[in-house]
Amino acid sequence: MTNHVSAGFLTRANALFRKNLTFQKRNIWSNVRLIVIPFYLCLLLVGIQVLFDTQVNNSADNRCGCQCILKNGDGKCERKSCGLQYSSIKQAAFCAFPNPPPLLPLLHIPRPETRSVDGSRGSCRRRGSCPVTILVTGNNQSLGAILSRNLLRTSFTMNSSDIFLRNLAYNVLSTTSEADYTNFREPGIYSDLPIFNIQPRCKSTPNLSFSFRQPPLKFYKEVRCVRGLNLWRNNSKEINDEIYKGNYRQGNHEEIINEVATAYDFLDTDRNNFNVAIWYNSTDKGEFKMQDRRVKMVRVPRLVNLASNAYLQFLRGPGTKMLFDFVKEMPKQETRLRVDIASIIGPIFLTWVILLLFPVILTSLVYEKQQRLRIIMKMHGLGDAPYWMVSYAYFLVISTLYIVCLMIFGSAIGLKFFRYNDYSMQFIFYFLYINLQISIAFLLSSAFSRAETASVAAYIYVFGSGLLGGFLFQFMLEGLTFPRSWIFVMQLYPGLSLYRGLYEFSEYALKKTLNGSDGMKWKHFSDSAMDEVFYIIIIEWFLTLIAAYYMDRVSSSAKYPFVFLKNPFKKSPSPKMHSFRRQGSAVSIEMEKLDVIEEREKVEKLMLEPSTSHAIVCDNLNKVYPGRDGNPPKMAVQGLSLAVSAGECFGMLGPNGAGKTSFINMMTGLVKPTSGTALVQGLDTCNDMDKVYTNMGVCPQHDLLWETLSGREHLLFYGRLKNLKGSDLNQAVEESLKNVSLFRGGVADRPAGKYSGGMKRRLSVAISLIGSPKVVYMDEPSTGLDPASRMNLWTVIKRAKKHTAIILTTHSMEEAEFLCDRLGIFVDGRLQCIGNPKELKGRYGGSYVFTMTTSSEHEKDVEMLVQHVSPNAKKVYHIAGTQKFEIPKEDVRISDVFQAVEKAKSNFKVFAWGLADTTLEDVFIKVARTSQTFNVFS
Ligand SMILES: *[C@@H]1O[C@H](CO)[C@@H](O)[C@H](O)[C@H]1NC(C)=O
Ligand SMILES: *[C@@H]1O[C@H](CO)[C@@H](O)[C@H](O)[C@H]1NC(C)=O
Ligand SMILES: *[C@@H]1O[C@H](CO)[C@@H](O)[C@H](O)[C@H]1NC(C)=O
Ligand SMILES: *[C@@H]1O[C@H](CO)[C@@H](O)[C@H](O)[C@H]1NC(C)=O
Repeated sequence: MTNHVSAGFLTRANALFRKNLTFQKRNIWSNVRLIVIPFYLCLLLVGIQVLFDTQVNNSADNRCGCQCILKNGDGKCERKSCGLQYSSIKQAAFCAFPNPPPLLPLLHIPRPETRSVDGSRGSCRRRGSCPVTILVTGNNQSLGAILSRNLLRTSFTMNSSDIFLRNLAYNVLSTTSEADYTNFREPGIYSDLPIFNIQPRCKSTPNLSFSFRQPPLKFYKEVRCVRGLNLWRNNSKEINDEIYKGNYRQGNHEEIINEVATAYDFLDTDRNNFNVAIWYNSTDKGEFKMQDRRVKMVRVPRLVNLASNAYLQFLRGPGTKMLFDFVKEMPKQETRLRVDIASIIGPIFLTWVILLLFPVILTSLVYEKQQRLRIIMKMHGLGDAPYWMVSYAYFLVISTLYIVCLMIFGSAIGLKFFRYNDYSMQFIFYFLYINLQISIAFLLSSAFSRAETASVAAYIYVFGSGLLGGFLFQFMLEGLTFPRSWIFVMQLYPGLSLYRGLYEFSEYALKKTLNGSDGMKWKHFSDSAMDEVFYIIIIEWFLTLIAAYYMDRVSSSAKYPFVFLKNPFKKSPSPKMHSFRRQGSAVSIEMEKLDVIEEREKVEKLMLEPSTSHAIVCDNLNKVYPGRDGNPPKMAVQGLSLAVSAGECFGMLGPNGAGKTSFINMMTGLVKPTSGTALVQGLDTCNDMDKVYTNMGVCPQHDLLWETLSGREHLLFYGRLKNLKGSDLNQAVEESLKNVSLFRGGVADRPAGKYSGGMKRRLSVAISLIGSPKVVYMDEPSTGLDPASRMNLWTVIKRAKKHTAIILTTHSMEEAEFLCDRLGIFVDGRLQCIGNPKELKGRYGGSYVFTMTTSSEHEKDVEMLVQHVSPNAKKVYHIAGTQKFEIPKEDVRISDVFQAVEKAKSNFKVFAWGLADTTLEDVFIKVARTSQTFNVFS
């Protein structure tokens, strides 16, 4: 009827894959939500960009000023004109300059408080009258003296007929304002600072004001006289030293600053040669990232003009003048502020987006572990390899979809972060990272036992990594003083290696926005830090996978996660254990009951000549858990020999901790026996477990079901694991739904989370029975059920028993009696007795229980009566007139008892009386008690 070829790797992987698919289909909305998260976040980024565009990039302040020059009737503007004349100073930076205005060539001089105090010992500082120092040197000192005298004009020349700048060209005008970004203005003119005229000697009325026109704007400037001082130095080295030392700042308080305006070295200048070297200060104050166009005024031309003029006058006499009217910048087009805010905040944002998958993966892995779904799948033969591969593949697919959606949304919406960088590089980067992320989730899943804890920890990791990256790591990256090796070390933290990659992408996107360079391309792979990040991610990925594999191995097989840390010099406990066991088994042979010995002999015979009549054969099975923390080793199962034939239901009774679950775990391949063999259908559980699984079903003590999957889907999944396919599968599922009456009213298609306890239990039983396994283990199948449901379940099991060997553990004697053909009572890992319920009762009970209640003065009479019926009767219970006796069966005939009671009733008053056969419960208690007492003595 069914195909009992064992399910191969692919079949199992397929079963799990389809189960996961259904599971995820159930969770379709949370999946869709997950995948559209990138969409929302990209929208958010675009929203921020749009807001920034309207508020900053396109705000009136950040573009060339305009004015309405023609209004129509209803007040609307018909024509606007934009240009410098309508702009504020700030706006002017963005205007087109088809014809840049002429600029006054100014000289830069130090501010009064930083000027050189050479000779005057600082007294001029207090008065604010320090001269502007110009240092001069050259090969010929007498020539140098002449030239330096010619450098400065003695008077301020002002011609009333104001023709543009010509007037001012006669004078050496200077400013203390920084030579900042000019926007095609000379900051010395439009700032509030006065203009200085440098003269060798200032007259008493030095200051005059005049209106100064620098088209198209008009400025009113005050011109002040400032004393210029030319000092000879012996050589250029001296000048260098002086400037270097003069620029020395000591701490924050005392600043020894002696700035000179400029210095000239006239070298070998003579009548025929004019050779000059000029010192000037071009210290830049750093650059603004947001400024899209940087123009710095270089105030050098005036310095050159001064020297040339001085030389000209030396050659041609004092009347000669070389006028320097103006300087003029190159024309420029209208510009706009184009700040790509999305790329600037992109790294932190996208770090969050990509890390957001981590909690999802981790939580889902820990959930399966927490709900012990992993164990039950393993019991049904789903090995580690298919489980990990399908889980990995599944998370990889989801993550890849997520990333692809992110890239598509991001590009479609127009985020430059995605558009400007090479797509293949981005994809490979994200792809590598999500692989690393999945492996980390696998590794960490063994560290958590509760899904809630795992998810909280994972979210802390996500937000922590983003913040760490954005507010700490980025500053370290941009600050040039932070050691690069530490940056590398920080990148070993996965969140930061992701951040670094995203940061590089955003930098390249920004650069492209600003000055049109390439975005990130493969050719930049090693220039940027991308190579470093890629290698870190790949290496960590492999290491994490190996570690995850190891941790899973260890945590599922042994209880010691750090096996390799165990002290190798510690004496192994095994020799001691051996002797202990040998001793134990000697005792057990001596003590073993006849029925147990018989069973052992049967098994020994079966082991010699294998037959298929017995589905389960266990030969001398032992399981010893090594001792821990100084406790002796625990012998969970000792010398168990058992044969269960097909169509038989074997009931395992025993007190808690007797080793029933250990036995079932061994039989289902979860743990390996310490010694002995177990054959299922003639296949060894140690070697052929894969084949065994196809013929095996398990119904665990607790319902291990997926809340969101329906009953039918559960059965389909487990049916596939049993290698059922196509119509066979559907038929088997329908049948088993019918068998456990989960068929009517669409129950089969409701999620299992909504089932009542009885329905869940029936589903668990149905799962264990699907695919007509030859062997089924049931661990307390009816615990916690109401009597009606229990009856229902029993009928199902009873029907299934026909072709199947069932091993069933239970605490309910009623269940054992109803379902089981044979029973074994298990105490302390050892089988104490075995036989069918009737036999056991006969053997261990072997007596009737006689109860009688009278008034207390007749108690003696009752005792007499019982003695009369059977001299061997034993009183087992006595309280306030009620007495209970055990009467050996062979001593009495029931009719004798009735006669005796009738006679007694006539003598004294009998309130109540009863005669009962022994129950299985009595047997159980008796066996458990005697063997436990024995074990205490042995
Ligand atoms: C130095 O310059 C002066 C003035 O031009 C000139 O007379 C003199 O010969 C020069 N001295 C030397 C050593 O070149
Ligand atoms: C002043 O201007 C007049 C005519 O514009 C010119 O002749 C005269 O030389 C100028 N004065 C000076 C000192 O340049
Ligand atoms: C510069 O040279 C003159 C004459 O040669 C000398 O007296 C003076 O000490 C020198 N100055 C320095 C600072 O060396
Ligand atoms: C050069 O200019 C900067 C900025 O104005 C100033 O801080 C520095 O002291 C100047 N250096 C010298 C040698 O004058």
